[in-house]
Amino acid sequence: MKAIIYQKYGSPENLTLQEVNRPEPKADEVLVKVLAASLNQADGYMLSGTPFPLRFSAGLFRPKNQILGADISGVIERVGKEVKQFQVGDEVFGDLSGSGFGGFAEYAVAKETTVAKKPKSLTFEEAAAMPMASVTALQGLRDLGQIKKGDEVLINGASGGVGSFAVQIAKAFGANVTAVCSRRNVELAKSLGADEVIDYAVRDFTKEGKKFDLILDGPVNHALNQIEAVLKDGGRYVAFGFSMATLLLGPWKSFRTGKKFANLIAKVKQADLESVATLADKGKISPYIQQNFMLDEVPQAMNLLKNGKISGKLSIII
Ligand SMILES: NC(=O)c1ccc[n+]([C@@H]2O[C@H](COP(=O)([O-])OP(=O)(O)OC[C@H]3O[C@@H](n4cnc5c(N)ncnc54)[C@H](OP(=O)(O)O)[C@@H]3O)[C@@H](O)[C@H]2O)c1
Repeated sequence: MKAIIYQKYGSPENLTLQEVNRPEPKADEVLVKVLAASLNQADGYMLSGTPFPLRFSAGLFRPKNQILGADISGVIERVGKEVKQFQVGDEVFGDLSGSGFGGFAEYAVAKETTVAKKPKSLTFEEAAAMPMASVTALQGLRDLGQIKKGDEVLINGASGGVGSFAVQIAKAFGANVTAVCSRRNVELAKSLGADEVIDYAVRDFTKEGKKFDLILDGPVNHALNQIEAVLKDGGRYVAFGFSMATLLLGPWKSFRTGKKFANLIAKVKQADLESVATLADKGKISPYIQQNFMLDEVPQAMNLLKNGKISGKLSIII
């Protein structure tokens, strides 16, 4: 099969299209004929081997798994002998980040618990744009954020992969949403359902006097004291871009203020893939895809991802 391979940590120039053996599914795995994939910042971290601690699981000196790609959609080609939920021919989508990546290829293996039935209303490209970003947004808003109908919710980084789903999911929960993004993405944020949009180049959401029940933060570019000042009593702050300050001071600050400060580490859960599929099929969320690429164009797509200015998602057609 054809796959995009990398054998050493570094830049997108290390990625090459090669012919490799098709993976074999283990007893609890399915073999998926991959029809589409999408990029996440996680692919960039795995490619560069940074931040360094990720190498303790990904391979200290060189990558253990040579094929990137977490988000996929496709059709099940074979099932392991312990697989109970799927059969050959099922259309699925899923997130391989917890089981060794491998999505930038014609075939990939996945634990059956890391895939779910593809939303019927979406194309394969659209379905592949969903898993990691939409599940991260869902877990941030619902689990750590305890979102409720009528909440004032601010999404910082609203036009990115996670943020573009977070705006839509927060609206689906009945929240009032303020989106923070750059000027070129203001119309996108409005089209996703944001009630108010703040262009971060001209306005700072911590200096406007408005308070929020829940802040979901990707860029993590404000001090915790500034965030605390714009959280209502009992408000929740969830950093999905990693915040060292929240890691070190969050528990103490939460105890002292009665507000909640937490870092999100999203986990692949089949039930959550099913939830986002249901939201998609009900027309409550849909992915915004900035650009589609072919499999041999993954290096170009990874270069684009690196600059951190993606609107929505980048998809790969396989
Ligand atoms: N916690 C988890 O489990 C988890 C899961 C997935 C991702 N993540 C992390 O979450 C972060 C975002 O991921 P993503 O997939 O959404 O990234 P992405 O698709 O690259 O989007 C990043 C977005 O940030 C926006 N941005 C840049 N500077 C900003 C600023 N000063 N203020 C507000 N927005 C700004 C950009 O919008 P403009 O172009 O409009 O500036 C861009 O749309 C990454 O650090 C990623 O590693 C964490």
